[in-house]
Amino acid sequence: MNTQEILEKQKKYLWPNHLLYYTEPLPLDHGDGMYVWDVEGNQYLDFFGGILTTSVGHNNPKVTGRVREQVGKLIHSSTLYPNQNHVALAEKLAEITPGNLQTSYFTNSGTEADETAVMLAKGYTGQQEVIALRHGYSGRSALAMSLTGHAGWRVGGTHILGIKHAMNPYCYRCPLKMTYPDCGVACAEDVEEVIKTTTSGKIAAFLAEPIQGVGGFVTAPPEYFKIAVEITHHYGGLFICDEVQTGFGRTGDKWFGIEHWDVVPDIMTMAKGIANGLPMGNTITTTEIAEGMVGKGLTISTFGGNPVSTAAALGTIEAMEEEANPQHVATVGSHFRAGLEKMWEKYPLIGEVRGKGLMQGVEMVKDQKSKEPATEAVGFLFEETRKRGLLIGKGGLYNNVLRIAPPLIATKEHVDKALDILDHAFAQVHEMNL
Ligand SMILES: Cc1ncc(COP(=O)(O)O)c(C=O)c1O
Repeated sequence: MNTQEILEKQKKYLWPNHLLYYTEPLPLDHGDGMYVWDVEGNQYLDFFGGILTTSVGHNNPKVTGRVREQVGKLIHSSTLYPNQNHVALAEKLAEITPGNLQTSYFTNSGTEADETAVMLAKGYTGQQEVIALRHGYSGRSALAMSLTGHAGWRVGGTHILGIKHAMNPYCYRCPLKMTYPDCGVACAEDVEEVIKTTTSGKIAAFLAEPIQGVGGFVTAPPEYFKIAVEITHHYGGLFICDEVQTGFGRTGDKWFGIEHWDVVPDIMTMAKGIANGLPMGNTITTTEIAEGMVGKGLTISTFGGNPVSTAAALGTIEAMEEEANPQHVATVGSHFRAGLEKMWEKYPLIGEVRGKGLMQGVEMVKDQKSKEPATEAVGFLFEETRKRGLLIGKGGLYNNVLRIAPPLIATKEHVDKALDILDHAFAQVHEMNL
């Protein structure tokens, strides 16, 4: 099928509320390493990796090889039968996650991983209420949409009771109109204020992403999580750290994002990059917390921990260790950051560059003083970068943040190529004076 035919069928047979990038949506055909090709044969440098999911590059032989082998052996068994890949992956994750996180429950998506984490926290603590963060994103189930802190992502106004949203540690747009570090990270204290004023006074959990993905790569100040997690524990809750976007070396130097804040979560959720594109979610916790669920009810996952996705995840982690370890990500990430900061000096429509490792956000504004979101400019920049053969993402409450997160195998050469395209695209949008 050519582009036209695919788009016609998309329109006719898929729900119209599928969100599609670009004025003319881009049907992809195949990929190899850092590149993807559309059905017309045009090549693109992929600096979004699906949505931070193709973590070790397209068609990585370590992943594809294991998947091919497993598909010929056994595709499905369900969680009713133990399986070698399932336990091997759980063991590997226990090894690379911080603290005493040791025992896993595999599902099929980030949404399910967060759902499972909340279920666990409620079961373990015997409490029902959960604190999440404004601007956070947790997925598309009713519970996940309720945890999400963006009106736009709560389809049909879905809202489950018992979830409250604390202020976001979003320094560029401080909810308290203060400036770091003079603020003393006052926003973290809001977790306590929200518990004391809007809950029964005891909570099951505080759920947060170390760097908010969909929220526009909002990066909390260094002290934030220590304060917020101490408050959480004081009120009987567990800290659920959502590493769906920040996990697996993405932030550089460490395997998991929260390690930069020197805090060990009680429960961690993972998905996206864990299996290089095969569906998988995981909720990992300590043995003690997991045992707290015994006798609380039955649970299975038909596809969770399936032999093929777990084979892909084992291959992905092996590829990360050999080709894209957290140190490699830190080195290439700093090179990328330095290039983006030069652009920040050059173009007034860049308000802030933030993030860590190969998770870099560029918040675009009409001017640096007013900080008015430049949503339209982001739209034009998107079309320009596509025309020049570069794929990136976008997000943020105002849809004015470029989310740039290439597969972790990216080299400095790939980064230079992306920076060159971005520079030309910024120059073009700058001239338009939107
Ligand atoms: C931080 C975070 N949590 C959860 C989810 C939900 O994951 P999924 O789309 O796999 O259900 C996402 C998806 O973007 C996410 O970014």
